[in-house]
Amino acid sequence: MSYSEIRMPEKIRNPHKNTATNEALLRLKKTSLVSSIYKKEMDVENIRKLFPITTEKVYLNHASTGPMTTRARNAINKLLDIYQFESDITKEFLESAEEETRNLAAQLVGAHPDEIGLVKNTSQGLIIPMNALGWEAGSNVILRKGGFPANVCPWIYNLPHVEKRYIEVNNDETILESCKNALCERTKAITVDWVDFLSGSRVDLKRLGDFCQEKNVFLFVDGIQGLGALQLDLSELNVDVFSAGATKWMFGPQGIAIMYISKKLLSQLNLTNAGWLSAQWENFHHFSEIPPIKQSTARYEEGTKNLLGIFGFREHLKLLLEVGPDKIQERIFHLRGLLVKGLKDTGCVFLSPLDNERGSGIVTFKPPKEASEELHEKLTKNNIIISYREGWLRVSPHFYNTEEEIKKLLENV
Ligand SMILES: Cc1ncc(COP(=O)(O)O)c(C=O)c1O
Repeated sequence: MSYSEIRMPEKIRNPHKNTATNEALLRLKKTSLVSSIYKKEMDVENIRKLFPITTEKVYLNHASTGPMTTRARNAINKLLDIYQFESDITKEFLESAEEETRNLAAQLVGAHPDEIGLVKNTSQGLIIPMNALGWEAGSNVILRKGGFPANVCPWIYNLPHVEKRYIEVNNDETILESCKNALCERTKAITVDWVDFLSGSRVDLKRLGDFCQEKNVFLFVDGIQGLGALQLDLSELNVDVFSAGATKWMFGPQGIAIMYISKKLLSQLNLTNAGWLSAQWENFHHFSEIPPIKQSTARYEEGTKNLLGIFGFREHLKLLLEVGPDKIQERIFHLRGLLVKGLKDTGCVFLSPLDNERGSGIVTFKPPKEASEELHEKLTKNNIIISYREGWLRVSPHFYNTEEEIKKLLENV
């Protein structure tokens, strides 16, 4: 069977058809909905054919930008043909692409499709619910100093009158402990990055979410450095907002992202950016009577969407689900283990936590002998692609990378 022949079962394409209730959907998503040729054993050699970058480079830089697959490119090309030769995009065509993508995204994060919005980037997926939440005078938000700016700037710029309580996290102190110290009765929300962009350390969302629930505080999560690499089941977590762009661990394309808003939070949000596509139109022939607004997170998708992004992203969501988030995480941890061991043996210094509990797909280190910048230049010249960030070297392998590729990197350190 060729990859293009793998079709999504009806259950995934349209889960509402098969499930009457949320509970039934949640039960369904816990079993495998995708019939997969990869399930038993990952066929890395064949999977790599979907990633043409593997013929050019040793690409270990998914925390920066994930490479596009042939499947996504073909899907985008098909849509470009439609734009060029047919042009008229019907409501049905639009909605079927959107809904399938929403369903796949819901499955990947462990949510109901009604909780999923398709937005343009991680920032937007945080900013929309942040602005839609009422912020009483004197309330405050807890956020992390030194976290990626996408989860810092919006709080500073959009909420100038809300107090910011910054937590500084070092290796000895978990985010949870810092939040406990910073919290007071006026705290309205805590916002964190699931996985830190630099060190790769991972927040325990279960424990933090339970704490937020107990204290009646909303939890916002920037998930871009985890989703696609690490398993996630939001139905088990007290997370109110989770936002993740496609561009890194989900292979893109850029300009499309998943915005999860929990049912609980949705019912408490104001309608700050509702637009004409927030309405439940029956057709695109009559616009004189405005219909009721959607009751789902999609009410925040205010107008025409990035359909090229949706077409590409849909293929990548299918791929991630076909391979299996559990298998992907296992494989990334396997490669990470080899990498850490090899780097340790050469005397490297680590910024990343080395255990799998607190770690992620990111391994950040400094080499023993030469400057990080020089080693980065040498690796780039040898077509081994990693990131140089804040004086450190950041390696971020994905499931289709091989042991040989890790070995090649280690040979250069
Ligand atoms: C933790 C984190 N959040 C967000 C982003 C990007 O945000 P956006 O998708 O809004 O451009 C990055 C990109 O480097 C990141 O590392």
